[in-house]
Amino acid sequence: MVKEATRVWAEISLKNLQRNLQWIQQRIGPGVRIAPVLKANAYGHGAVHVAQGLDGKVALFVVATLEEALELQEAGIQTPILIIGPLWHPTEWEAAVEHQFRISIGHVEQLQRLAEWLRQQKKNAVVHLQVDTGMNRTGVLLPEVDAAIQILTFSPFLKWEGIYSHFVASDLNPGLTREQFDRFQKVLQKIPPNIQLVRHMANSAALVTLRESHLDMVRPGLALYGWCPHPSLSPQYAVWPVMQIRARVLQVKTVPAGQGIGYGPLYRTQKEIRVATLGIGYADGFPRSATNRAEVLIHGKRRKVLGSVTMDLIMVEVDETVKVGDIATILGKDGDEWITVHDLATWAGTIPYEILVRVGPRVQRIYTDRTKSPGP
Ligand SMILES: Cc1ncc(COP(=O)(O)O)c(C=O)c1O
Repeated sequence: MVKEATRVWAEISLKNLQRNLQWIQQRIGPGVRIAPVLKANAYGHGAVHVAQGLDGKVALFVVATLEEALELQEAGIQTPILIIGPLWHPTEWEAAVEHQFRISIGHVEQLQRLAEWLRQQKKNAVVHLQVDTGMNRTGVLLPEVDAAIQILTFSPFLKWEGIYSHFVASDLNPGLTREQFDRFQKVLQKIPPNIQLVRHMANSAALVTLRESHLDMVRPGLALYGWCPHPSLSPQYAVWPVMQIRARVLQVKTVPAGQGIGYGPLYRTQKEIRVATLGIGYADGFPRSATNRAEVLIHGKRRKVLGSVTMDLIMVEVDETVKVGDIATILGKDGDEWITVHDLATWAGTIPYEILVRVGPRVQRIYTDRTKSPGP
């Protein structure tokens, strides 16, 4: 429940999360499994709540760090968890092995060290081999794939479960996407026929742009949270935004002509206007780079942000109808109008991912349509 005084909150619809999961399953067909990407606090939506909504319905959860995996396990999540990391230190391997997390390995030397460490410890680790098909971030490079396969096949302590790669531009560059997929397929042909692996590559964009890449499992993030990766692809997605953000009008005043608004000041009034101060700032994730550019919705109408986004507050131009205590929509729908994550990203000069993951800890998350109790 939102209290009357709450200054900023995110409404998170677990029902829309389920709808999006269903849409993804329809899109990929019954034979392909889903590994939701829950890293960065499930793209700002709250990893534990999202995992509780999906637990038992998907094959695997994907997180980036050991701490993210531990948070889910401590909350009682049963679905296996893959840490894409990379985890490089034996203390991390030890914890991952103890908690039965899947470890991603994308470097031959690290694979060797892991195999040796497991031999000394007499322990087993379940691993997914990451192959670099063009991103040059993490992943075994193509000339080293044979060596990696050799180690994975011969070490009795490595339980080889999966093999994967990651697209660089599957939303906008079909040629490069195809090239990357072809490289991955060549790698897959090298796997000895007696070894059954879970093969995965597709992210949210590849759900619609390259069907062949769905393989055994897909790893969607953004689409699961209800956004298409690029506005040009939106007709192909039938997903529902999971998060909407609202902020309260905390003050309204009349500002005469010729006055500066906010730090700098980066805005000057041309005439007398009414200005509302809203309870959201860059400490809550409202991007400072959207200064003088962004819009919000109040009473179903677009209102311009005036001047600099400050740490806790923003100022917007309003009319006589707006009062203290009214609700502004920062992300989401009010009446017939929408502010999308793409709008915010464009105003801020960034990408939708950064907008979502930066929604700060002061933004109270309010979960609607719970499918499971969130625990104590
Ligand atoms: C390895 C990996 N797989 C899948 C994803 C999900 O991508 P998207 O949110 O575009 O679906 C990410 C996100 O960054 C990733 O790093």
